[in-house]
Amino acid sequence: MTAIGGSIGIVGAGQMGAGIAQVAAQAGYKVILSDVDVERATKGKDGIAKLLSRAVEKGKLEQAAADATLANITPVGDAAAVADCALVIEAATEREDIKRKIFETIGQHLGADAILATNTSSISITRLAQASPDPKRFIGMHFFNPVPVMPLLEVIRGLGTSDATLAHVREFAENIGKTVIVAKDSPGFIVNRILVPMLNEACFVLSEGIANVVDIDNGLKLGCNHPMGPLTLADFVGLDTCLEICKVYLDATGDPKYRPAPLLVKYVEAGWYGRKTGRGFYDYSGPEPVPTI
Ligand code: 3HC
Repeated sequence: MTAIGGSIGIVGAGQMGAGIAQVAAQAGYKVILSDVDVERATKGKDGIAKLLSRAVEKGKLEQAAADATLANITPVGDAAAVADCALVIEAATEREDIKRKIFETIGQHLGADAILATNTSSISITRLAQASPDPKRFIGMHFFNPVPVMPLLEVIRGLGTSDATLAHVREFAENIGKTVIVAKDSPGFIVNRILVPMLNEACFVLSEGIANVVDIDNGLKLGCNHPMGPLTLADFVGLDTCLEICKVYLDATGDPKYRPAPLLVKYVEAGWYGRKTGRGFYDYSGPEPVPTI
């Protein structure tokens, strides 16, 4: 048996949490999937069921494997229900107050060897660890969207994270088929430190009238072989998330190179967050996305 045996707890059944639950359940782990109420947790599991049945229809997955994956996932409406798990991964809203509250709630019941991880994309792991029962057993596990497809897991050590915690998480990552890269605790870690300024720069290029949405996206797609252009990717990640990440860098470093593009700020103020709200740099209401400007 692996070092991380027993159940895996996931807190937050949105896009990221459900994706993590799916890959863990597919690898044979029992997963407790929690959200603020059981309806939301069940919605997360229903989304996984849809993805699995599509894979079965395409002939990429056996029905029995899909059934076994779903049987491994138990939706719950209470974060404390994950406290018996050997590894708990928090994938809730990217807000420090919410995350701290979750760690405090779970921390009251967490086992003495259990590991608490956060899927934060930008908040300091060292600071979040202070809300956990033991910073030695606290770590960042940054997954990428869509989790079942993207092979990377970026692991971030807080100042207090122990070698044993890192080793357990590495082993878990291997078991669920992810390749690990390890970063020190610094704003944006490795990938978002490089990626998000690029997405922000694409917003500047658009707002300065240098090129239109389609040409900017084609530039990076066809010129650099990126699977999605930067404005499509920003819509996919969520413009609100991109803005939050830029603000974290700016606050943490004071370096004006991270200032968010005014157009990005405006879109977020308008509630145009990208795919999840049906409108961002593209309009997603029709069969194909159409540029909004
Ligand atoms: N969930 C699960 N599987 C999905 C999926 C989803 N949301 N979206 C697509 N897939 C699967 C499809 O089922 C298909 O699987 P198959 O090959 O077994 O049939 C496969 O992915 C390819 O999908 P499509 O053929 O529909 O579409 P594409 O070939 O255009 O690929 C994509 C879609 C994988 C999303 C690709 O466009 C891509 O890699 N885009 C870049 C994604 C990226 O950069 N992600 C990182 C974002 S940054 C981040 O997450 C960090 C955060 O902190 C900001």
